[in-house]
Amino acid sequence: MCGIVAYIGRKPARELLIEGLRRLEYRGYDSAGIAVLDGGLTVVRAVGRVSALSDRLDKQTDFDGTLGIAHTRWATHGTVTEANAHPHRDDKAGICLVHNGIIENYTTLKRLLEDRGHRFVTETDTEVLAMLIGELYEGDLEAAVQGALREVTGAYAIAVICEREPDTLVVARKGSPLMVGVGKDEYIVASDPSAIVAHTTRAFPLEDYNVVRLRRDGIRTSTIDNTPVTPKMMQLELDLEQAELGQFQHFMQKEIFEQPAALRNTIRGRITPHGDSIVLGGLTRYSKELVRARRMILTAQGTALHAAMIGEYLLEDLARIPTEVEYASEFRYRNPIIEDGTVVIAVSQSGETADTLAALAEAKDRGALALGVVNAVGSTMSRETDAGVYLRVGPEIGVASTKAFTGQVMVLALLSLYLARRRHMSRERCEWMLAELASVPDKMERVLEQADHVREVTLKYVERENWLFLGRGYNYPTALEGALKLKEISYIHAEGMPAAEMKHGPIALIDDGMPAVFIATKGSQYDKVINNIEEVRSRGGHVIAVATEGDTEIAQHARDVLYIPDIAEPLSPILAVVPLQLMAYEAAVARGHDVDRPRNLAKSVTVE
Ligand code: G6P
Repeated sequence: MCGIVAYIGRKPARELLIEGLRRLEYRGYDSAGIAVLDGGLTVVRAVGRVSALSDRLDKQTDFDGTLGIAHTRWATHGTVTEANAHPHRDDKAGICLVHNGIIENYTTLKRLLEDRGHRFVTETDTEVLAMLIGELYEGDLEAAVQGALREVTGAYAIAVICEREPDTLVVARKGSPLMVGVGKDEYIVASDPSAIVAHTTRAFPLEDYNVVRLRRDGIRTSTIDNTPVTPKMMQLELDLEQAELGQFQHFMQKEIFEQPAALRNTIRGRITPHGDSIVLGGLTRYSKELVRARRMILTAQGTALHAAMIGEYLLEDLARIPTEVEYASEFRYRNPIIEDGTVVIAVSQSGETADTLAALAEAKDRGALALGVVNAVGSTMSRETDAGVYLRVGPEIGVASTKAFTGQVMVLALLSLYLARRRHMSRERCEWMLAELASVPDKMERVLEQADHVREVTLKYVERENWLFLGRGYNYPTALEGALKLKEISYIHAEGMPAAEMKHGPIALIDDGMPAVFIATKGSQYDKVINNIEEVRSRGGHVIAVATEGDTEIAQHARDVLYIPDIAEPLSPILAVVPLQLMAYEAAVARGHDVDRPRNLAKSVTVE
């Protein structure tokens, strides 16, 4: 989704901002722009990649300057055109700004500003904000920004400069992340720490309604009502190497292959040395409330929702706690019932998904204990939950989520066992489950060794435009995730569903040669899945089965088989999803798509 980078210091802003935008490319965008203040204001924008913007800049040699703002846009209001790309300017005071988020009352504000003689040249909500700041400007940029933001409803992260104040950068946030990196006589502001760490690891996040005025000799933080605020400094830990491709072609591929190492990190230190109990440091304070929980609600979007669905099976099956899963976007507007003893768990890679954050706030307002299962350390969600468990899988760059998914399921399995053992599970059963859990990374390595075979199988079907993904029980959500992965990056239409549901309609789609991927691992519903496979086969569908090593029967039912090692059924989705991730990856590569920058998608959806 949209990205912001802004700089004030002593170095030329231009290269620094472009390099920052490159680091944000993975988030997904459709146009980019930059503004640098150097006596006058130079604004350059381009549709398409940051490289297109950079090419344009190379042709313009006549501007320098050590103060600037830059943006990658993911269109919400207004089509993808150069005119709609940020930065946007006002028509009066020399204001120039970049914006992430949505100004909800922009039509009302636009009408008011038009009545006062302002003329708009774009279709965006952001231009309204630039004009409003310009309208209120009386020689003090910070005051004008504060005043404008008091009039605005919606979500924003903004960085603003003004031709008349060549030594000032003003940034602000509500509902969309923004962080200030503090260097020596310089500041770099960005919507994502990955654009900051190359310059400094000292930083602070803006809280909602914070406004920061940055000058080369110091900063001032306040609220939009001008109440001073003391920022909370933190140390960024992002390892830049994690953001490099190394031997891999794409970040998605790298992240699929680093899952065993990532999951070793997830588990590390969380299973006691005797292997009989679980330590989740982040939950200690709420341990009693959690053990006594009467109901859990897991809320998320996208891939994280699929992980949450597996969490529902885990929490009910292992910990015996009634659990529901709900899209955060539905939960937040549904007048949900939160009774005594309800725990709400937000599941998220980025910790910044707008709908999930709003669902969390709703749950907290209604008195629920709010937990987070989050990857991004220091993210808004990790700050706003009462407690939580980090995934520890490292930064995920590929837009299609892979290692975060397996990390989320792993953490939810740990949480379920943590509660199960404290509620009723016998020591022996818990020890056995923990040994199984600890075996996941090694077993996953064995799955990854078959990547070439997965490619061969995928290439047989890659021309087909419609696929089905089917599973039962624990692997019903795995089927949903397999279909989502394929859709996201190969643009093949795929549907995931419980295998039994197929008979209630989707079976009509099956024609000669239609690929149907079944998760048919050994488990409580194996025989039922075989029946469903036969239903597809007898109608001409081509079955690709994900099955358990040593299963000699499955090859009689499926055209192609992808084997995974045997593992306790509740943990089987963590292994079964890997061949599906590889399939989606191979299909996208074979179709010539940009795997890490799929069309229309954003890594982190920070608007509702
Ligand atoms: C976007 C991403 C998905 C992700 C979803 C939820 O749609 O493209 O990959 O699953 O957001 O994101 P979160 O950061 O909350 O896990």
